Amino acid sequence: MILKACIFDLDGVIVDTAKYHYLAWKKLAEQLEIPFTETDNERLKGVSRMDSLEIILELGHKKLNEDLKKKYAAQKNTWYTDHIKRMTPDEILPGSLEFIHELRNAGIRVAIGSASKNTPLILERVGIKGLFDAVADGNSVEKAKPDPEVFLKAAELIGVDPANCVVFEDAAAGIQAALNAGMKCIGVGATEVLGKAHFVIPGLREMNLEKLEILEREILL
Ligand code: BG6
Ligand code: MG
Repeated sequence: MILKACIFDLDGVIVDTAKYHYLAWKKLAEQLEIPFTETDNERLKGVSRMDSLEIILELGHKKLNEDLKKKYAAQKNTWYTDHIKRMTPDEILPGSLEFIHELRNAGIRVAIGSASKNTPLILERVGIKGLFDAVADGNSVEKAKPDPEVFLKAAELIGVDPANCVVFEDAAAGIQAALNAGMKCIGVGATEVLGKAHFVIPGLREMNLEKLEILEREILL
């Protein structure tokens, strides 16, 4: 491949918002009297808001009508955005900014590919709204990861062929979405969860342009 673009998932790759999602889902689960642990929360990573609610209801063996589901998902989002509104630039995960600036200086296009409808708010709060050439998120697509739509949308917005894109992802559903898009994929997190990726790193702190070029020659070709 010839690397022309990097597409970044947002939650869990550039910012650690999983803890805020957990706090908000936990509060809702308590209200619904459904036991919900941090281990259960792992299943929600990369999964859309409504699909996350379905998983929680399944854990509690509960069924709700569509109106109630919409109401509870909106309630969770209000609690979640109460946390997000208070985010500051120091919550950007270590190494992310340095790596993205390095890519931009080398003429590699950078985009966001996130399931979250709160992407614009998060980017604004942590002060990186203008850093990306394009943003594809939960507001611009219909189908949730592992469907490739959000990554294909990001590639289309920056005008790069999917075969020339590398995705950085922290969720198994996101890795599968990148593979379904015909892109290369670097997992960010634990190998046990992200084994399907072409390569796995613990965090963006462990990545730079030189390492990416070595990977491109040795693994991603
Ligand atoms: C993903 C998160 O990025 O976005 C999921 O990993 C979340 O946990 C999903 O459910 C949708 O987010 P939001 O902000 O639209 O509810
Ligand atoms: Mg993520």
